[in-house]
Amino acid sequence: MTTTSLRPTGAPEIEQLPEPPLRRSREIQGNILAAFNKDYMAFRYVRFPDGAGGRGWLSVMLNTVSVTATVEDFNEEFSLSRRAYGQDPSITATWVGVSLTFQGLLQVAREPEKVKQDLAPFGSFVKGADGRAADLGDDGTSAPDHWHFGSDRSGVHAVLIVAADTEEALTEKLRNIAAADSSHGVTLVHQDDGRTLTGDLRGHEHFGYKDGISQPGVKDFHREDRENPGFRDNRPGSTLVEPGEFVFGYKSESGEPPEAPKWLDNGSLQVVRRLRQDVPGWNEAVKREAAKFRPHGISADLLGACLVGRKKDGTPLAQGENPVVGVGPERNDFTYENDGQGKQTPCAAHIRRTTPRHFEPTQQHRIMRRGIPYGPAYTGSNPEADRGLMFVCYGTSLERQFEFVQRAWSNNPGFLPGTSGAPNGIDKVTGTIRQGGSGSPDAHIVLSDGEEGTVSMDRFVQTTGAVYAFTPSISTLRRL
Ligand code: HEM
Repeated sequence: MTTTSLRPTGAPEIEQLPEPPLRRSREIQGNILAAFNKDYMAFRYVRFPDGAGGRGWLSVMLNTVSVTATVEDFNEEFSLSRRAYGQDPSITATWVGVSLTFQGLLQVAREPEKVKQDLAPFGSFVKGADGRAADLGDDGTSAPDHWHFGSDRSGVHAVLIVAADTEEALTEKLRNIAAADSSHGVTLVHQDDGRTLTGDLRGHEHFGYKDGISQPGVKDFHREDRENPGFRDNRPGSTLVEPGEFVFGYKSESGEPPEAPKWLDNGSLQVVRRLRQDVPGWNEAVKREAAKFRPHGISADLLGACLVGRKKDGTPLAQGENPVVGVGPERNDFTYENDGQGKQTPCAAHIRRTTPRHFEPTQQHRIMRRGIPYGPAYTGSNPEADRGLMFVCYGTSLERQFEFVQRAWSNNPGFLPGTSGAPNGIDKVTGTIRQGGSGSPDAHIVLSDGEEGTVSMDRFVQTTGAVYAFTPSISTLRRL
């Protein structure tokens, strides 16, 4: 990272505001609280030859792993200078994050029995993403048998995320890492390449919707007094989320730090899911279902927005309440409180299902999302290309956060974030009813202008790989 300050004359001096303590953390790895935010990313799933090889490799990675303070300083500098000059500044940085699966921790631990005992309460982490697949509705072609990699089945011990501003910088870093792999006998099980889409699709996912807008604001990390709606908490009048929801060792929403052994402090649990998207399939189904609405039929654009909860440019269907932050397509200051029947934002909408906002326990089910698309954009002539989202999220409880959102909200036709009593079906973007599950996946939507229809669609997002891993603090990495 360059050291020259690009802060323009007259730009706000961030030092004048109280510095939230977690911004300065050199213990918490980057990407948990401070996003890597890069256009070029590689996800490397590796396997250790034995404990010594794994520990040797980790000691090399330790020298290259990025910490919160460095990533956040860069992100601050970058966004201040972009705001001042209206374009992306030329400062660059390459980031690395390392996480270990349960099997990986056992490999490198000097006392594996103690690790087993310590982690026994973390059931889903111990089982691994493949062990939990059936419960999350990953069956049929989304079942682990079809995955490119999985926590256990392909023996993944560690996940390395490398993030850079250019293809060249990424390749260079990966070359160094590959050298460390071979000198420690570490094998590459699989690699995925994340790339932000370009042109009009920049910042959007493959179905065409702007992504990465709504994130939880975190106490002691985000400033309460800065106007930054995308990264502040998204409920008007609500407080920032406690840091213990995302990092071990801090107070969580329950009032206490999450129960965990000390060596987990300043670490976080990571979910990586390779989610393949069938873009032509989605487009066709949305068009077909929109035409079925009565009395007149609605446009495919409107139905798509209803199923996501935002239009393609990010504008939410819900009305914002704060006149200042409520401006612009990335608005995030709304709730669904006055829309019990889902006439503005249908109850089946992806963003309503995954963060019901005014619904009371929402804050205990938040996740920090850090995804990036993979594969080429859909052009009309490449329907079969493998494309989708490298979905990544962090939290301190897999069961209460990621798995709960997927299982109890997205996949559950009985979950009624509204009050209409009409069948909401499942989340049409990521929801799936597991084999033998009950309830109809179809969603009955009634809009405020009286248009009404029952949306019946297949699944256009398939799971093609998944890993649960632990992203340790720098001290814990050092002690391994
Ligand atoms: C928000 C797309 C997978 C949880 C969004 C948004 C889009 C989107 C377009 C709105 C923009 C934003 O607020 O950032 C997708 C696609 C997926 C996918 C295309 C799969 C290919 C998932 C999964 C989960 C999830 C697997 C969790 C189980 C969320 C959450 C939000 C969100 C929590 C923020 C909602 C809010 O606070 O308003 N997603 N998503 N998404 N998604 Fe997804």
